Amino acid sequence: MTPSSKVLKTIKWIYSPCHRKKKILCVPALFFILTVTMFISLKIDLICPFSFLLFPEMSSSLVPRKSKHFDNICLHPYEKQLSNERIEVNLNVNDLELTAFTGQAENVAIGGAWSPTECWPKYHVNIIIPYRQRQEQLRVFLHYFHRYLPLQQIAYRIIVVEQSAEKEFNRGKLFNVGFVESEKRFPSDCYIFHDVDLIPQSLNNMYACTGMPRHLSSAVDTFNYQLPYCGILGGVVAMRSQHFREVNGYSNMFYGWGGEDDNLYFRVSQAGLNVIRFEPDVAKYKMLRHIKEVPNPARFQIMEMDQGIYSAEGLNNLNYTLLSYELKPLYTRIFVHV
Ligand code: BGC
Repeated sequence: MTPSSKVLKTIKWIYSPCHRKKKILCVPALFFILTVTMFISLKIDLICPFSFLLFPEMSSSLVPRKSKHFDNICLHPYEKQLSNERIEVNLNVNDLELTAFTGQAENVAIGGAWSPTECWPKYHVNIIIPYRQRQEQLRVFLHYFHRYLPLQQIAYRIIVVEQSAEKEFNRGKLFNVGFVESEKRFPSDCYIFHDVDLIPQSLNNMYACTGMPRHLSSAVDTFNYQLPYCGILGGVVAMRSQHFREVNGYSNMFYGWGGEDDNLYFRVSQAGLNVIRFEPDVAKYKMLRHIKEVPNPARFQIMEMDQGIYSAEGLNNLNYTLLSYELKPLYTRIFVHV
């Protein structure tokens, strides 16, 4: 039997009930099967905006630091469940009096670290920012975050990983460098991978890790506060360090704009982890204005290539040249050639 006649025979076999039984029943049945199939393939995207309702408590609850402290633990807006309305940060970037800001936020230690002194902070995070030539945005970012984060009563450090001029920007690789360098100098159980142009609008959006990786910036103003698609994992992501190692970090292969975040989503799913998102009211962000970058058209091919080799491509084959390491008054600066 030739291959084409085999295919024909299979099709006939599938449709044979239609020949035997009344056609009147068969057509709606086939239509029903087709609709169900379509629905299943779209299902993930349909439930995606509501996924914050689906995950078990354990995955979406915050993971505290390991400690023997039982008293005088800092209280957090998220856990006190204050209404969003009461604590929403009133952010108007133009009102930030940037010119008056000389770089001395209150009690921020050199290197951009801060910790509450009146109580014991249950959460500790390293915040990694990939960076190049966005001076104005970095100024707004630091100004805002050294006021916003102390209100959450967490211990944190802001680490800016700056790429040298030679090659195209590689956001994923800079995150990997930030992680590896931080683990050497000031390790943490929780990392936040953060774009410099995103400003959170609700204090309930805790800068801490959940049981599963969390997409913090799932409601950004430039996307009308909606999730553009389910597999998006750009902007701001919180991950426990053990999970970041498990997924082998970001890919190092995405030079230029786009793709590395979609690829991280793939890595997270492959590792059997779920992406958690808080409700849109909590996950609200404003994006600071900037000229839109030109997306890298090769990102889909790189993605395809990486998906076959991701366990050998990422944190475990990372190479870079550390050009300098500095403790600035408001942040730790890691300058690299990648
Ligand atoms: C890019 C992502 C980006 C997303 C939203 C996608 O096409 O690959 O990197 O986050 O668009 O802008």
